Formats: sequence, structure tokens, C-alpha cells
Amino acid sequence: MRTPLRMFDFQAGVLAERIHATGRSQENTVEIAGNLIPCYSGEFWTSRQRQAASIHEISYRACFKPQLPRFFIELLTKNHDIVYDPFSGRGTTVIEAGLLGRKAISNDVNPLSRILTEPRFLVPDVEVVMQRLSEIHEQKKIPSRTVLSMFFHPETEKEILHLKHYFARRRKARTEDNIDRWLRMVATNRLTGHSKGFFSVYTLPPNQAVKKESQIKINKRLRQKPQYRDIYELILKKTKSLLRNIDHVQAENLKRISQGVRFLSDDSRHTRSIDTGSVQLTVTSPTGGWVAFEVGEVRSGRVKLEEYVVPLALRSGFRCEGIILNVQTFTKTSNIWGISNNLKGTNTNRIALFHKE
Ligand SMILES: C[S@@+](CC[C@H](N)C(=O)[O-])C[C@H]1O[C@@H](n2cnc3c(N)ncnc32)[C@H](O)[C@@H]1O
Repeated sequence: MRTPLRMFDFQAGVLAERIHATGRSQENTVEIAGNLIPCYSGEFWTSRQRQAASIHEISYRACFKPQLPRFFIELLTKNHDIVYDPFSGRGTTVIEAGLLGRKAISNDVNPLSRILTEPRFLVPDVEVVMQRLSEIHEQKKIPSRTVLSMFFHPETEKEILHLKHYFARRRKARTEDNIDRWLRMVATNRLTGHSKGFFSVYTLPPNQAVKKESQIKINKRLRQKPQYRDIYELILKKTKSLLRNIDHVQAENLKRISQGVRFLSDDSRHTRSIDTGSVQLTVTSPTGGWVAFEVGEVRSGRVKLEEYVVPLALRSGFRCEGIILNVQTFTKTSNIWGISNNLKGTNTNRIALFHKE
């Protein structure tokens, strides 16, 4: 005999109430592992015309749109709650938390994550960045051997090495400051990539970097040779672009919250330094409080990952409060640009929402 389906009382639930209040939700239920789970569908965050903060614009593999964590942070947390991302990457969740005045914990096994995220909590003045770049440029150059000619023009590589020696000296003398950390963040992000905005010839971004041998093959295939890139100019240009729509209130929020942000580089399965029950919202992985887990679709939507994630979370003592589908319908113009990820003309983000008391 079939086990009767359990239906969560989502009418009375806080999620249902708040999702209703957005006025954009269509509701039905899905059956997963013997449970009837509410499914809310609508254009929840991509419909918002409000542009994301430019300070997020750091290239990183598989990062999500800032509007996604923003939606859940605004929906489920209040000022000074702690927002956690165990797979933080470029730090989209924690930066968005900071912009909204929440505390945050960022964790990622890749040390690049902290280098790229932490400096953006202390937004610098462009004039000060410009001044520091010119001071570094003027400093005496140490002769150094260039070995990455498949990625960089020799003069560009010398400039990179000069900057690297500067950082090493500052660190050794314990004089490294926020501006140095900002410059390292921008330079690390500009090191390798696809366009003329990067120091390298066309290659993969830093967190997907290829080996020298593979780059030699890429150069042959694309018949390309590294051209000279002025790293000082590119760092300044990227700094201006990152800061272009950050207003005084956002900069102040980030600065205030910078004291309350923790950066960990643990395996997410063993983050013992986080106190049990201290986190109010996690955007991606289970602890107490709310968990907004972007599950995505694989094999053109034929495999729905929530069907695998939900039973695991239920076994770990979470309630699945619902599945949220953010459905974005594209215009003809976006289709011309090839934006039709799953179905022709639509793009769906699938989020499983869990809760634990
Ligand atoms: C898809 S990226 C996250 C991107 C992030 N949502 C953003 O918007 O920037 C996944 C991250 O998980 C990290 N990671 C993978 N396995 C991990 C583990 N076991 N513990 C901690 N971090 C891990 C990777 O280093 C990578 O930065």
C-alpha cells in the first residue's frame, strides 16, 4: 500500500506569507520522497530592474546573480543577522549581505576566494588608488626573469613581477594596508581572462587557469601572441568600474559590517569554528535557520536536482518549506544573443528552501 503523502502546513508558514506578499507567486505542489512540497513560481528577482551593485563584477566561475542572495536576505533576515555561504567563491552572498547591513561568514577552500572578497568591504577612494599606483610605478625595479611568455608580453610580466615584489616587501615589513589589499584583489582578478581588460592574452580566468602547455596550444589555435598591457592603467580602470554605482550608504554599510565578517578556508563539511545555531540564513548549504539552496537543472531540465537534495535535507532534520522557481522570460532580442538556457526563451533558477528551528 502506498504511504499517505505528508503535506507541510505552508499556508501558515512564514515563507508562504512572505512569498504571497511579493504578489508575483503562482503556487502548486510537487511530490518528493513521499512529501508534498509547495512550489512557488514567478519572476522573483530577475524582474527587478534595479541594477546589481557594480562592486560584484569580479569574474569567477559559476557565480550567481547578486539579486538571488538579495531576494532571500531581504525575505528571511533582519539587520545584524548572520548570513553564511559555505562555498563562497567571489563572495556574492557575503558582499550582498554587507550591502544590506547583515553580518556574514564566508567559507571557501580556495584561498583565492578571500583575496577576491575581503578587500571589497573597504571601498577605497579612486584618487588614493591612483596615487598608490603611481608610487609603486616609481619605485626601483628589481631585475627579474620572465617565464610566462605564453600568457604575457615580457614588459607586462615585468610589471606584474614588480607589483608582486612590492606586495611581498609590504607584507614583510607589516605595512600592508587596505589599499594594497584592494590592488591585489583587482590585479589577481585581472591576471588572466578573455578580453583586453586582462593582463594576459586570451585565456581562462584565474580560478580556471590553464597550464603553460595548454596555453601554447590555445595560442597556436587562435594564432595569437601576447600584446603589451599596461597593468597600472587596467587596475585603475577596473577600480573605477567596480566603484561606479556604489553610493555613500552602501560604502558605509560595507565598512561597518567589515568588522563582523569572518573568512574561513575550511572544507565546508568541517567548519567547527561556526557556533551551532548562530547562522540565520545560508545561501547554498545546510546548517540551522534558513537554507536557500540553488539546485539548478541538469540534462536540459530532465534531472531536477531538488529530487535528490530534498530527501537528504529531510534526513538531516530540515523541513523543506518549498521549491522556488524564478522564471525569466526573455525577449526576442535576448534570444538573438543566445540566452535560452533551458527552454527556448526562458531561463529558470531552481531554489529549494529549507528551515530548521
Ligand atoms: C560555484 S562556486 C561558488 C560561487 C559563488 N556562489 C559566487 O557567486 O561567487 C563554488 C565554490 O565552492 C568551493 N568549494 C568546492 N568544494 C568545497 C568544499 N568542500 N569546501 C569549501 N569550499 C568548496 C570552490 O572553491 C568554489 O569557489
